[in-house]
Amino acid sequence: MTQAFCDAALRLPHVVAIDGPSASGKGTLARRLAADFGCTYVDSGAMYRTLAWWTLQSGLRCEKPMRPSEEDAIVRLMRRWDARLRVIDGAAWFTVAGYFPREEIRSDRVERAVPVVAQITRIRVWMVARQRDCAQFGPLVMEGRDIGTEVFPLAQVKFFLEADAAVREQRLAQRGNAGSAGSGRDAMDATRRKGALYPALDAIRIDNTHQTPDETYEIMRSHMGRLRVAGAWPA
Ligand code: DC
Repeated sequence: MTQAFCDAALRLPHVVAIDGPSASGKGTLARRLAADFGCTYVDSGAMYRTLAWWTLQSGLRCEKPMRPSEEDAIVRLMRRWDARLRVIDGAAWFTVAGYFPREEIRSDRVERAVPVVAQITRIRVWMVARQRDCAQFGPLVMEGRDIGTEVFPLAQVKFFLEADAAVREQRLAQRGNAGSAGSGRDAMDATRRKGALYPALDAIRIDNTHQTPDETYEIMRSHMGRLRVAGAWPA
């Protein structure tokens, strides 16, 4: 990591952390913000999805309830998988043995398996370390559930996006993944022991229930503009 990408005094990487439940608009807004502010985009959920995909590919069971021996098997798999961080089209992704499973990680079976994988504390500890490794790619916009609280608690700017559950269900239905990714998964995300979804105390909370993506984006952009004026973000 070069010093140009770090906070002058503390040598912190420049990070915009965007957290929130599913269908709160994180993905679209994070990608747009990253492109406009010259940052690498990181979808931390995709990292958990890649491990869930690899778990299923390896023939391991990945459903609740999970026996300790099954959990141990996934952790062992993670410790020896050949996963590398690569920047592809301005975003950091895991490749596994050189392969980028772009489509596969969005399948229904991965959708069902990923919250199970993401609940395992030893997996979260490893993932958080890899997410921090992304600082090698320069300034970041990273989206997830625990970015502002666990991964980068000193991020220069933190957004927490929210929307009413009914509106989020509608958005998921429009994307064709109602039910599987909705309230059940959010409940697991909100109640796990480590990395639970909650807003950081210093997060800018935006409820976008009644906003268009453009309106939410303008609010986020104006906060970024203020940071630039204050010298907390590279001009
Ligand atoms: O954002 P997503 O739908 O791609 O996330 C997939 C799963 O990973 C979801 O169950 C939440 C979980 N996740 C997490 O636990 N921590 C993160 N930082 C990002 C995602």
